[in-house]
Amino acid sequence: METEIVVIDEQNIDYDAIQRAGTIIREGGLVAFPTETVYGLGGDALRAESSEKIYAAKGRPSDNPLIVHISKWDDIYKLSEEVPESAKLLSDAFWPGPLTMILKKSEAVPYKTTGGLDTVAIRMPSDKIARAFIEAAGGYVAAPSANRSGRPSPTDAKYCIEDLSGRIEMIIDGGEVDIGLESTIVDLTSDKPMILRPGFITPDRVKKVLGSVCEDETMMHVLPDQTPKAPGMKYRHYAPKGDLAIVYGEDKAVISYINDRCKEYKEKGIKTGVIGTDETISRYKADVVKSAGSRTDEKTIAARLYKMLREFDDEDVQIMYSESFDSQGLGQAIMNRLLKAAGHKVIEIK
Ligand code: TXA
Ligand code: MG
Repeated sequence: METEIVVIDEQNIDYDAIQRAGTIIREGGLVAFPTETVYGLGGDALRAESSEKIYAAKGRPSDNPLIVHISKWDDIYKLSEEVPESAKLLSDAFWPGPLTMILKKSEAVPYKTTGGLDTVAIRMPSDKIARAFIEAAGGYVAAPSANRSGRPSPTDAKYCIEDLSGRIEMIIDGGEVDIGLESTIVDLTSDKPMILRPGFITPDRVKKVLGSVCEDETMMHVLPDQTPKAPGMKYRHYAPKGDLAIVYGEDKAVISYINDRCKEYKEKGIKTGVIGTDETISRYKADVVKSAGSRTDEKTIAARLYKMLREFDDEDVQIMYSESFDSQGLGQAIMNRLLKAAGHKVIEIK
């Protein structure tokens, strides 16, 4: 299939192109589109065949449920007949924005969209192109991140093109995304609201709105006998092609450990890479050294993470080391994704 690529400027939206994209969805096709978090691979959330096509295009296991994207609050009632007060409170505080809520699903939502679950994930993105597109598409767009399964989520249309060209009808190119990490997921279906995936909206902010919130204990460290509550969290997502390990410890010790390993690999002809920070990169001797940004600037670290992982792939780096980052606030989401990318391979230097 030929994939049409349409560049759309958020400041001056081409509504004819948006209508064409919406028609593709309403006719059962797929369109990749920008959101403020990462690019999504959209299909009609209310059609089982569209969700099947999404799984096929991504190469994703079909027990991994999709997030349904809406553009206005009232549309939530089509997806769920049991919308708790807490959903309205969170919506008033964070929608449109990078927060996904899990609610009991209505009959309108096919099990193919929810991976067989009786619950549905719902998000109202803030990106202007995304919202215009969702409306043109009929209001309910199921969309996982627009990457092939196992690759880092796309933060730019060029990565959607790399992963999905020839597999879907259209890619909307809205440039680089703002946040660069997927939305925070909050489950509102049990007694106590629970965060299943950390993101830009931190647990503290959710707690301020709801009074209390707990976190899925498997969210950061899944043990072999545990099953995460967000089914997608069990997969080794965001994985670069090479081998990545995260090194914890004092700067000096971390840098010298990484440099020693890189030297050994270099002697064997193996290409090495490092994810450091503005404060440290000049001290690394790997073949490819990238800075995630300044340690004090978590927004930049979040925005660069997936891009760096993809670039290491493009440069055929075989062994990678990353410094660890502060895991407070947005840092929790950064470390969550980094740990997953590394398959939880962690080295602690005493
Ligand atoms: O920021 C985002 O959320 C992006 C953009 C495109 O909106 N989307 C995204 O989708 O990250 P995806 O499919 O890559 O991740 C969806 C996550 C998975 O971990 C999935 O298991 C979880 O949401 N999820 C979806 N429905 C669920 C449900 N009913 N119960 C628990 N977890 C659910
Ligand atoms: Mg994903």
